[in-house]
Amino acid sequence: MANLAPGTRANSPAGRPQLYKLPADQVLRTLPARSISLMIADPPYSTVDRKGGSGNLRRWFSGSMDWPQIGRILALGRARMRPDGLALVMTNSAGLDGALAAMRAAGFANVRPMVWDRRYPGLGSGLRHQVEYILVGRLAGSRTMSGTDLVSVGAVGPGTADRYPTQKPDELGRVLARMAGVGRGDLVVDPFCGSGALLVGAVERGATVIGSDISARAIALASKRLTKPVVKTPAKAPAIARKASKPSLEGRLTAGKPASRNSARGSKPSTRRAGR
Ligand SMILES: C[S@@+](CC[C@H](N)C(=O)[O-])C[C@H]1O[C@@H](n2cnc3c(N)ncnc32)[C@H](O)[C@@H]1O
Repeated sequence: MANLAPGTRANSPAGRPQLYKLPADQVLRTLPARSISLMIADPPYSTVDRKGGSGNLRRWFSGSMDWPQIGRILALGRARMRPDGLALVMTNSAGLDGALAAMRAAGFANVRPMVWDRRYPGLGSGLRHQVEYILVGRLAGSRTMSGTDLVSVGAVGPGTADRYPTQKPDELGRVLARMAGVGRGDLVVDPFCGSGALLVGAVERGATVIGSDISARAIALASKRLTKPVVKTPAKAPAIARKASKPSLEGRLTAGKPASRNSARGSKPSTRRAGR
């Protein structure tokens, strides 16, 4: 992974997630055309101050982007999608208009929002937010999403050990992978993978998985999350579990490199942040 020079293609055999501590655009550019089955993204969008009645934007990820910037990165993924590919992009309510515009600018003619019911409210601008949105970006030949446009999965609670800022629940990754019909033979890419939660379902379903993030902490957590053994009946599968638990990512962390400022940005969450 550290050797992902321009012109080199990221690729990974099925079942071995490849994680890059690199900017999303750099990784997406290495992927071949017509390769991505599902681009799933929870981008580092700027969000609104809790007392943001004035409309003030507060950049609480130092690496945060505005939606036009995010749209340009999504366009790189869009250009590399299979004809039956899909994109799933997360936003909060404050970002809904911007995210829709960014998806359309990225080349998704057909974009529809799904609601994620987080089951408990986060912060908001007076009105506390219990829901976020997952925008479904479709191409003319996109596969069909199954299920309903309301997904109800409990958010990761503030007291969760080792929680990554804005970490999504593993179960959300599972539900979305199931709805998108992800399976073997698919390539699922999360260009802003954070702790890797949204890739869990794809890994469990045997897809080829690629994630990127500029934060060393994110990549370390994603590596841990996505390579842990899936043991449904421990008594029957210890050997597989032991093997799978060895760190075997091709996309190794960029060892020895100081983490960017972004990697620590969630360590002291401001009480004025909007919940995500
Ligand atoms: C909203 S978080 C993703 C959280 C993730 N879904 C999870 O469950 O942990 C957005 C991520 O984008 C990363 N990021 C910011 N700028 C980036 C860039 N240019 N390329 C890749 N990742 C970036 C941040 O470090 C952060 O981890």
